[in-house]
Amino acid sequence: MEKFRIEGGRRLEGMVRVSGAKNAALPAMAAALLTPEPVRLRNVPRVRDIVTMGRLLAHMEAHVETSPAEPEYVTIRAEKISNAEAPYELVKTMRASVLTLGPLVARTGYARVSLPGGCAIGARPIDLHLKALEKMGAAISTEHGYVEARAPEGGLRGAELRFEKITVTGTENAMMAAALASGETVIENAAREPEIADLARLLITMGAKVEGAGTATLRICGAAELHGATHTVIPDRIEAGTLLVAGAITGGELLLTQCEPAHLTAVTEKLAQAGVVIRAEGGNALRVHNGGPLTAVDVTTEEYPGFATDMQAQYMALMTQAEGASVITETIFENRFLHAQEMVRMGAHISIEGRRAVVRGPVRLTGASVQASDLRASASLVLAALVAEGETVIDRVYHLDRGYERLEEKLGAVGAKIERIK
Ligand code: UD1
Repeated sequence: MEKFRIEGGRRLEGMVRVSGAKNAALPAMAAALLTPEPVRLRNVPRVRDIVTMGRLLAHMEAHVETSPAEPEYVTIRAEKISNAEAPYELVKTMRASVLTLGPLVARTGYARVSLPGGCAIGARPIDLHLKALEKMGAAISTEHGYVEARAPEGGLRGAELRFEKITVTGTENAMMAAALASGETVIENAAREPEIADLARLLITMGAKVEGAGTATLRICGAAELHGATHTVIPDRIEAGTLLVAGAITGGELLLTQCEPAHLTAVTEKLAQAGVVIRAEGGNALRVHNGGPLTAVDVTTEEYPGFATDMQAQYMALMTQAEGASVITETIFENRFLHAQEMVRMGAHISIEGRRAVVRGPVRLTGASVQASDLRASASLVLAALVAEGETVIDRVYHLDRGYERLEEKLGAVGAKIERIK
């Protein structure tokens, strides 16, 4: 298993380009199943989850290609779908495989998708995805660990949907199903994440009518057929947030390019309160530097536009270096503090009670052997290691590779001493 070896204590300085958003590219790839025509996607990050989604689509006999003449595009052609199934082997490595459910049942009338089961950060059921499809007329059954969904004769029908809890991929599944359903679908209590708006943009280019993206109510008019499209995926706000913390925690100065500052407001506001100086430069660049001692500031994770749960672990790493006690409350997932134990092994003062973590700082972190437990936890350990005294070895970086594109190269290029070891 691959590991990272990091020698802490170096100030990061320089320019880093932010990659495309994994969580926008995944639904965009799934949406390509809705049409027999090619969907060309730009700014798709080269991360493990994207490779997994590519494999999943290939399993359904879609063609997923990057031509040497146009290396910046991933083109997906799902001319025919002969195997509408997401097998357990792929779903277990990536929960977002469930994003193929809506498009498959809408396009072929049938889908068989393995149940994802739990993951390190909590139970994570998909009941809300299934209820939405049922309301659109699908018959759902669960057997042998698989969900089978069948559209009624004449295909899925538009429906009035109301999610009892906000779900990002649940909203995306419903949007994609609605794009090929007959009539209008209204989704209430929809997720408002920028990735939802990105998917809406793609579906509109493919020929669906989508209104209200970015608000809690989406209206989608399905089309009998959707066509191909060319689409540029939005920048990754979580990678950008992670890099902002990297600049701040090392007392460095980084210029992040090709990011979308408007998607980062909750993070930049929190960091500013804590004493980090962040300046927008032009439309899509952010400069971060540490303006002196950091102050502890509480944070509560929320759905967008609130502070993202996917930034909670990285923020915790920063708070180990801030003066005072910060209370970090996790409201989205029930078990998302696994990184805290590893940070404690590096010298952090963190106590956890239920959904609340209290971080007391500043402390001098010292390098240690630690283990990554999930994608964002891995990133937080990298951040802690960047500021720790001596050497940290992070095991199981495959978690990190699921969602960060060449993180060690990006950090190495701005002064971090970081290497990948076997
Ligand atoms: C997406 C993101 C993930 C992020 C999360 C929350 C992708 C590929 N992943 O995950 O990075 O951390 O949003 O911002 O975009 N829930 C149910 N029943 C359901 C669906 C969800 O109870 O049918 C619960 C979940 O267990 C969780 C909460 O709703 O407690 C929110 O989860 P959800 O928004 O669905 O997360 P994902 O879409 O899986």
